[in-house]
Amino acid sequence: MTHASALQSLLRAVKPLAASMSINEVADLFLAAEHRAFLSLPVVDENNRPLGLVSRATLQDIFMQRFGRDLRGRHPVGEVMNDAPLIVSLEASLEEASKQVTAQLQYPITEDFVLIDAQGGYCGLGTVLDLLKAMEARVAQRNRVLRQALVDLKESQAQLLQSEKMASLGQMVAGVAHELNTPLGYVKNNVQLLRELSEPLFELAAAQARLGQCLNDPDCDEASLSQALQAAEQARQQAAPELLAEDLQQLYGDTLYGLEQIAELVVGLKDFARLDRAMSEEVDLNDCIRSALLIARNHIKDKAEVVQQLGELPRIACAPSQINQVLLNLLTNAAQAIDGKGRIQIRSWADAQGIHLSLQDNGRGMPPEVMAKIFDPFFTTKPVGQGTGLGLSISYKIVQDHGGQIRVASEPGRGTRFLVSLPLPATAAMKRSA
Ligand SMILES: Nc1ncnc2c1ncn2[C@@H]1O[C@H](COP(=O)(O)OP(=O)(O)OP(=O)(O)O)[C@@H](O)[C@H]1O
Ligand SMILES: [Mg+2]
Repeated sequence: MTHASALQSLLRAVKPLAASMSINEVADLFLAAEHRAFLSLPVVDENNRPLGLVSRATLQDIFMQRFGRDLRGRHPVGEVMNDAPLIVSLEASLEEASKQVTAQLQYPITEDFVLIDAQGGYCGLGTVLDLLKAMEARVAQRNRVLRQALVDLKESQAQLLQSEKMASLGQMVAGVAHELNTPLGYVKNNVQLLRELSEPLFELAAAQARLGQCLNDPDCDEASLSQALQAAEQARQQAAPELLAEDLQQLYGDTLYGLEQIAELVVGLKDFARLDRAMSEEVDLNDCIRSALLIARNHIKDKAEVVQQLGELPRIACAPSQINQVLLNLLTNAAQAIDGKGRIQIRSWADAQGIHLSLQDNGRGMPPEVMAKIFDPFFTTKPVGQGTGLGLSISYKIVQDHGGQIRVASEPGRGTRFLVSLPLPATAAMKRSA
């Protein structure tokens, strides 16, 4: 709807009066059905320019006076009109019109407002009531749009959260696949070796079986028996079970160890990615640290030595996969901030205020102007394609949703420390957005 047409719909075509019309004539006009809705009638000059408004209330006042009609009824209406009426341009927006009208409106309302065209010519009347209704409809519509925008915003925020989670998971899945490859490789080698090594044992068993058959067979002659004996002895020498035993034990042990490593990674991955069945699962946050470390291991191992000082923590209600995501973001950032080989120190402890997780690196650190922006969405100092700049803003939101705080201290050249504090159940007002 354009501005002009917004007011156009309020325009009421009322035939204007000439200033010379008598008060009596105008009073009769007010009684006509077509003018019943109006508080005032417009007066124009010969060029159709608005001169003023005659209000119904003014005429009533005159007629209420003793002999009012007789004394003044024949006077021209121009004498009693308000010659400073409310004039609004049809070009004005609804908002401008209502601002203009309400600024000059007097209580009680005794007048309507005059609508003029761009040349200042009279077009018609508008009533305050119509204006209010139109404004209300406009506000209601704006509210609807705003409400929808809020819903959309919430939805895209949730999508953002999800896609960042998927992106970090995707990154880590590649790391975990790499981690799985090492134990898988040697488990496979070991099993192949076991198969090769166990072949002579099967031959030995077969040779011994043939020898046993010969011994039990009365028809087996001396020559066959000696041949069977020789073959069994040869097979035994080849298989050398007394030497093999040690090798086999070692191989079985290594293989089992590899399989355990694979199992550990798989469990870690499952723990890490678990869906939040219950937002309020009772969780030991040290498990989250271990889980995030396991997932990030491949990413970190060439960059930093990880030092853990994990204190005993009370279990708290939280969304573990979200906390995992925060820790993974912090660990990844720390590893990325380290040039060459560095150290990441992870500490956890609990006190009366809550549970605290501290992640400290001795990487590049950051100047105050960078630090001021790190929690802003899409702020990144990393090259295009490497950082989305969402990691910390999402971590911030997650911690905030848990009623906690995330703080940072950093010094260029010395390193950075992030401190995540979550409230204990007694102090926690779990204000989570559903
Ligand atoms: N441990 C840290 N040391 C130094 N700078 C850091 C550290 N953590 C974050 N930053 C700075 O904060 C910025 C924003 O971090 P954030 O995790 O939000 O995004 P990102 O790491 O750039 O991108 P993404 O997490 O999407 O890969 C980083 O680009 C970096 O400049
Ligand atoms: Mg990051």
